[in-house]
Amino acid sequence: MTERADDYGQYWDLYVRSIFPQIRAHDPAGERLAWPGDEWGTPEIWERIYQMVFAPELEPPPARAIEIGPGAGKYTGMVLDHCPTAEILAVDVSPAYLAVLEERMAPAMAAGRLATAQLLPEWDHLARLVAERGWRGSVDLVFSIDAMVHVDLQYLVAYWMAAADALRPGGKMIMSVADATSPHGFEKLMADVPTYFATQGKITSKFEWLCPPMVAHVLNRLGFDVRFLPKLAGRDCWFVATRRPPQAG
Ligand SMILES: C[S@@+](CC[C@H](N)C(=O)[O-])C[C@H]1O[C@@H](n2cnc3c(N)ncnc32)[C@H](O)[C@@H]1O
Repeated sequence: MTERADDYGQYWDLYVRSIFPQIRAHDPAGERLAWPGDEWGTPEIWERIYQMVFAPELEPPPARAIEIGPGAGKYTGMVLDHCPTAEILAVDVSPAYLAVLEERMAPAMAAGRLATAQLLPEWDHLARLVAERGWRGSVDLVFSIDAMVHVDLQYLVAYWMAAADALRPGGKMIMSVADATSPHGFEKLMADVPTYFATQGKITSKFEWLCPPMVAHVLNRLGFDVRFLPKLAGRDCWFVATRRPPQAG
């Protein structure tokens, strides 16, 4: 395994196989870190996020959902548990993270409620995966939490295009992205300067910054009505983007 990543997938493989084990080894409460991703928050916080962000939006519960960047599946598991009719396609650039997800979610995989796919560095790969499943225009929910904070808008917009193609009219995309205009976002932007300046554009876990007007403008052009979730606004900008019917888009 190279210690240098040339693309997003390689970086997150490195995170799972090398960086996360080091974090766990140096954490005095390391035994609480069962899966990579457990180091970001606590089960109480993730449950609160589910109740505040997902629960009000998932009535009726989704039948078809797509998750981008599931990591080890903390939100995948919650959506599967709370929405007994949901079938999820979980896509990620990192084969190592997908292997962890598949291990943790083995019962859901066996029950046919969860399928996984590695995203290749091809701009329309997600849209093709959706088309291959016969899901175009029929998906109820696309979601991605704590993942797209790391993805540059020039890449992210390809996922937003794929989501516009996949979702049925009225279907929802729930997402968090990094907000440089929020007080905490601005603090992190400044605090990270010494860490990331020397990386000179290499792929790392640095944040890729956005702000609500950019999110609203681009998604509106792609056929979505965007609602921000101010109660969650901290470092990140949280939003629900609802797919307009194509004729109005
Ligand atoms: C910080 S982890 C968050 C994982 C999970 N959503 C959670 O909250 O625990 C970031 C996730 O996004 C994935 N990811 C990073 N860059 C990506 C990209 N360009 N496209 C899709 N997934 C990406 C990583 O492989 C990883 O699974």
